[in-house]
Amino acid sequence: MTSLEMTPTNAGPDGTAPLLEVRDLHVEFKVRDSVTKAVNGVNYSVSAGETLAVLGESGSGKSVTAQAVMGILDSPPGEITKGEIFFQGQDILRLSERERRKIRGAKMAMIFQDALSSLNPVLSVGYQLGEMFRAHQGVSRKDAKAKAIELMDRVRIPAAKERVGDYPHQFSGGMRQRIMIAMALALEPDLIIADEPTTALDVTVQAQVMDLLAELQREYNMGLILITHDLGVVADVADKIAVMYAGRIVETAPVGELYKRPAHPYTRGLLDSIPRLDHKGRELYAIKGLPPNLQQIPPGCPFNPRCNRAQDICRTDVPPLVPVTEQDGTELVGRGSACHFWKETLHG
Ligand SMILES: Nc1ncnc2c1ncn2[C@@H]1O[C@H](COP(=O)(O)OP(=O)(O)OP(=O)(O)O)[C@@H](O)[C@H]1O
Ligand code: SF4
Ligand SMILES: [Mg+2]
Repeated sequence: MTSLEMTPTNAGPDGTAPLLEVRDLHVEFKVRDSVTKAVNGVNYSVSAGETLAVLGESGSGKSVTAQAVMGILDSPPGEITKGEIFFQGQDILRLSERERRKIRGAKMAMIFQDALSSLNPVLSVGYQLGEMFRAHQGVSRKDAKAKAIELMDRVRIPAAKERVGDYPHQFSGGMRQRIMIAMALALEPDLIIADEPTTALDVTVQAQVMDLLAELQREYNMGLILITHDLGVVADVADKIAVMYAGRIVETAPVGELYKRPAHPYTRGLLDSIPRLDHKGRELYAIKGLPPNLQQIPPGCPFNPRCNRAQDICRTDVPPLVPVTEQDGTELVGRGSACHFWKETLHG
């Protein structure tokens, strides 16, 4: 059977090339004598207008993968040791830092969990929003301010005109997150990576911010990578899901199918842990045992010490991410699992 790692999906939902394609990405952090293998062969893609949710326990490499895509990896100690990242058909790992900077902000933007530490506390939000236009488009101060107000309106910050001179700490957490979304949207990028964008907010505000993000994504036809712990959020807004474990994608699937019929024991564990799939705001529970030490990933399947299906082969052979099929061999489009026993998991 072909490995999905060797033949990453090349087509988006409408058959066109994906906006972003990460191929066999490896990232290590070398600190003194120790090497942390944070990302160990990640493959994923996202197309224009599509939302990919990346799910997994803390430390599974979700953010590091995103930082590598954005070109903001903490390097050193972080280093991309292998892999390719194609954005709009171009391998962006081959670009100079100057060329990467041009893409950042203008073509791809990131939204972080913590707006307060991402925004500058001593500059007004209007100034910070306007700066995007001044720096990238060379517009005048006056025009930049007008554009800042327009953006604040877009993300539905009430009384934008009056509040444009306010500082980040004068806004509530939810409003600050809207400002982050506005910053990311300013230059109308083709791709947004949102790393736990609502985790720090309370549940009702989470839903409002997520709805806004989903709405803007549709309107601008952007690709969205949504990194989250929240299975409820994922079910509502994602098209497809990539489940990460120990720096690898262990399962990929269209969102509904993953919920209905997981093909990896880790995904099954995550799903079994939530009493109701529509229960918003729930954290992933801890599956028995702990995620592996990334300086000493166990041989074979990294999930084997925690897996109730593990057999001898799981302790020796790393399972590749392979296409998942029905029992009669019919392909399940967009589905893959990195488990030696995916058939038993899916069909059992
Ligand atoms: N700046 C860094 N220096 C050294 N190691 C790092 C650094 N950033 C990340 N790592 C390592 O990479 C691993 C993966 O980190 P990452 O932030 O991608 O996890 P995550 O899946 O985003 O988790 P969380 O859900 O907690 O945000 C971490 O466990 C850590 O060991
Ligand atoms: S490969 Fe083996 S240990 Fe890994 S998830 Fe599948 S059954 Fe479990
Ligand atoms: Mg993270």
